[in-house]
Amino acid sequence: MRAAASATAIAHPNIALVKYWGKRDDAANLPAVGSLSLTLDALATRTTVRFDSGLAADELRLDGKPDEPARRRVSRCLDLLRARAGTAAPAQVWTQNDFPTGAGLASSASGFAALVVAGAAALGLDLPADELAGIARIGSGSAPRSLHGGFAVLRNLPSGAVVCEPLLAAGAWPLRVIVAVTSPLPKEVGSRDGMRLSRETSPYYEAWVHSHPPDLAAAEEAVRRRDFPALATVAEASCLKMHAVMMATRPPLLYWTAATVAAMEAVRTLRRAGTDVFFTVDAGPQVKAVSTAAAAPAVMAALAAVPGVTRLIDSGLGHGARCIDPTQR
Ligand code: PMV
Repeated sequence: MRAAASATAIAHPNIALVKYWGKRDDAANLPAVGSLSLTLDALATRTTVRFDSGLAADELRLDGKPDEPARRRVSRCLDLLRARAGTAAPAQVWTQNDFPTGAGLASSASGFAALVVAGAAALGLDLPADELAGIARIGSGSAPRSLHGGFAVLRNLPSGAVVCEPLLAAGAWPLRVIVAVTSPLPKEVGSRDGMRLSRETSPYYEAWVHSHPPDLAAAEEAVRRRDFPALATVAEASCLKMHAVMMATRPPLLYWTAATVAAMEAVRTLRRAGTDVFFTVDAGPQVKAVSTAAAAPAVMAALAAVPGVTRLIDSGLGHGARCIDPTQR
């Protein structure tokens, strides 16, 4: 490696339609269940990684500020890349989200996808996709899905291995995702702690894990056939089942606000009237409405009228994580 080597990558958050909640191994960050997601194009994380043997230790600036807990997670991923490249050089990591961080908008997924792509490129590593996904997963369980564009599926294989594969390219089924932002504040309990609490205390946790595989299979089939009603049914069921597990956790994980429920209800009202739209909600109060392109204007209008919805983000499906020219804006 040269004395200093750097690369810049961009990655987009992804939204799970069949949710991941719970780990079967905390240290290796192995998910208890698979998941199916779509990658957004309207939101982005941009990360520059610069390895420099003259630095004393890794440095991270997240949205312009140092963040020590995030730095520790970043260093774990960088250690794996450094081991692969045979270097001990520390790195400077500059990462910027163009959307609220840690507020249920999947900033950790796009963040760690951008980190491993930029880090590997800076070290001149051309890693197999599975290995890169495995390193991203150490940072965030949902990050491997942001390595892919369009629809992606993350699977637990019978061997215990985890694989993450593209399912359908962004252009093959151009759905829209309208994010109804109800609060820009960071969540009180992050997904890592929340998942551990659910496994340890939620009476519904075992049922969640055991009833999950048919949901994943049904969603995969619906995506392959571009069957919107079938995808809507399984995606809302998976989302509500995950939140039931969360709410039954001690202490309870209640990520919804009144505006979250009102936005979900607005989506259900539209669908009952024949509009192709369904909702999904992650570990935060924002509601993501997934619709066909034709239905998007009606969905935007309905969500804009919901009290407590402060902002709408209208997104198409995006590309996977990739290196960019650092002078590009
Ligand atoms: O990747 P993590 O550890 O932030 O977990 C993501 C958890 C959910 O967003 C709630 C669900 C999912 O599959 O993305």
